[in-house]
Amino acid sequence: MKVLIVGGGGREHALAWKLAQENAITKIFTAPGNGGTSKLGENVPLSTDDIEGLSEFAYDQWIDLTIVGPEAPLTKGIVDLFNEKGLKIFGPDKAAAQIEGSKSFSKNLMKKYNIPTADFKEFTDPDEAKEFINRIGAPVVVKADGLAAGKGVIISRVIKEANDAIDRIMIKKEFGDAGDRVVIEEFLTGEEASFLAFTDGETVIPMASSQDHKPIYNNDEGPNTGGMGAYSPAPVVTDEIFDKIMNEVMIPTVNGMKAEGAPYTGVLYAGLMIKEGEPKVLEFNARFGDPEAQPLLQRLKSDLSPVLLATINGNLKGMTLEWDDRPSVCVVMASGGYPEKYKIGKEIFGIDMANEMKDVVVFHAGTSYIGKHLNTSGGRVLGVTAMGADLKDAIDRVYEAVHKIDFYEAHYRTDIGAKGLKYV
Ligand code: AMP
Ligand code: GLY
Repeated sequence: MKVLIVGGGGREHALAWKLAQENAITKIFTAPGNGGTSKLGENVPLSTDDIEGLSEFAYDQWIDLTIVGPEAPLTKGIVDLFNEKGLKIFGPDKAAAQIEGSKSFSKNLMKKYNIPTADFKEFTDPDEAKEFINRIGAPVVVKADGLAAGKGVIISRVIKEANDAIDRIMIKKEFGDAGDRVVIEEFLTGEEASFLAFTDGETVIPMASSQDHKPIYNNDEGPNTGGMGAYSPAPVVTDEIFDKIMNEVMIPTVNGMKAEGAPYTGVLYAGLMIKEGEPKVLEFNARFGDPEAQPLLQRLKSDLSPVLLATINGNLKGMTLEWDDRPSVCVVMASGGYPEKYKIGKEIFGIDMANEMKDVVVFHAGTSYIGKHLNTSGGRVLGVTAMGADLKDAIDRVYEAVHKIDFYEAHYRTDIGAKGLKYV
């Protein structure tokens, strides 16, 4: 089977790494890919937004299966386009991808189907939004309705900040059309977790739990990023909470999407806030998480390609996934300055030494080869990922691997996984 992976981050390298180990896979293309994926197959110089170009490539190359990493091509309708051409592709279609592409859509879906989430109201008029904020007070969360590369959520501790957020989103249009509408919601406290599942629109097969670390600095300080590290499983998700998430969130959401005439197939990812044993949904994503995919795929013992195909073909019923019992921890090494301005083109040293360690995989994100030299080419550069006998051991081992790697102004958090230690 020839596969095409759309994307160029750590998630896509992890997908390629997993698929490369499977007998059914004969060739892996990644578009645009990175230094890591270039060693597992062929990188294709097409952008993830060029859905026409990607579909032509898949058609010309007789690609058997395309897997979409990021959200933007999904909300643009890459799945609809591939389906029109009779090409197999993994991910939700445009209508179903709204669950990530529109906060208003997902909040209203949750309200209608009683899926636990923060109370909210939506506005298209900035004055009415501000009046509402002044009435309910701070802390409060302001969200641009559309996709804003993870930056459209503004948590405001004081009313002035929330009103400024309305100006930025709705008047200055910092996120373009994504800010035509805002969702204003209750500020939730608790511990966050990520819950991903495969679904063919009927059956929901959960993955192991995981937890992201969004802020740039230790102790969750500083601005949010795409994610500075993740680990799996997340002990905050006890067996009881796991079942609750399946019964109160994942299954009702998949059923609700079907009832709305937008049946969902692919990976459904719920970002959750958990407090006193009760999960509430912060957001849905229409794809694998990044970095969550890195520790999850390291732990997945079952082959991935049969699950992807069963999801597309509506055959998930009865399928089970086997996981390595050992925890996996992924530490993101980023370019200095990320998530703001950063430099690229800096040589990376020591990856081979880290990869020599048993049960350590260095996933590439923003890297590219210039001749034999591996250079940085993005904000998040590497996802160093390690399994260990227990969480403490996995953390020790991943940082041992991180310490073998170096590039100019490399920045990483030193507390990835620490939140999980309080449970053991
Ligand atoms: P989202 O893109 O909606 O997941 O929001 C990004 C991040 O903002 C989440 O991972 C949370 O850390 C935070 N966040 C979003 N909504 C809320 C909320 N209602 N209360 C507290 N924090 C939130
Ligand atoms: N790790 C957060 C995300 O993939 O959206």
